[in-house]
Amino acid sequence: MTEEIDAQIARSLDATPELLPFLPELLADVWALGSSIEIIVDVLRQVGIDDPGRRVFDVGCGKGAVAVSLAKENGCRVYGIDGFEPFIAEARKQAADAGVAELCTFECGDMREAVTHGRDYDAVIYAAHNPVLMGRPCVEVLRECVRHGGYILVDDGYLAEGVQSKPPGYEDFLPYGGTVAALTACGDRIVREVTQSPETWHADDDRVTDLIRRRAEALAAAYPQAAVLFNDYVRAQERECETLSAIHVPATWLVQRS
Ligand SMILES: C[S@@+](CC[C@H](N)C(=O)[O-])C[C@H]1O[C@@H](n2cnc3c(N)ncnc32)[C@H](O)[C@@H]1O
Repeated sequence: MTEEIDAQIARSLDATPELLPFLPELLADVWALGSSIEIIVDVLRQVGIDDPGRRVFDVGCGKGAVAVSLAKENGCRVYGIDGFEPFIAEARKQAADAGVAELCTFECGDMREAVTHGRDYDAVIYAAHNPVLMGRPCVEVLRECVRHGGYILVDDGYLAEGVQSKPPGYEDFLPYGGTVAALTACGDRIVREVTQSPETWHADDDRVTDLIRRRAEALAAAYPQAAVLFNDYVRAQERECETLSAIHVPATWLVQRS
């Protein structure tokens, strides 16, 4: 992987590139890296994405939490791509442990490249990413990966009502109306929308931050010369929780390609 993709991967996990070698350990207790697994599994089942004949593409799949759950719960055949090799190794292990290895294919690669040749899937998942992909609203790029009538699942959120200015790093968040307009700009329609209570979502975010904090403390004891990196990471997580609590409503959309 190039320095550029390493930087993007680190940014997507609120880290800096020098922290990448420690991320598997820091995130060891966290499987889903921001996605709402139960909602995704349920929403896809409601539209018939629940048998081994269905092919699902998980873009930026992390440790495979969504993909493995879809294979296990819905019986789908899933293809996950992520640029961080240790996550792909963990995804393969999780699939084997769950007894669904034969339904899951995980590969390490650049998702920006993968979306240019992934085609004819029944559904594509884009969970816990920036809503912009390759400089365009994500749905514009992702819809090309699914057949006509297939589904684009975006697990993300929108800017809470009344938020006047967006903090740096959150410029791509749109208010509800703007998000819906971006999701449907290519003539597709939203067939499901699940909004979570910000309180529930943020309680889970706090729980995750606690797990990371414990790992960071252990790493700081083992590598005192790098303690500042680990402490900074925990602070970045705390800031992210605080910022999102203040500006964001978590939501999942299922868009059907026209
Ligand atoms: C916030 S995590 C979400 C992971 C997963 N969707 C989940 O919810 O568990 C973002 C993921 O995107 C991956 N990523 C970021 N940029 C990437 C790129 N250009 N190509 C492949 N993976 C990338 C990171 O490695 C990370 O696993």
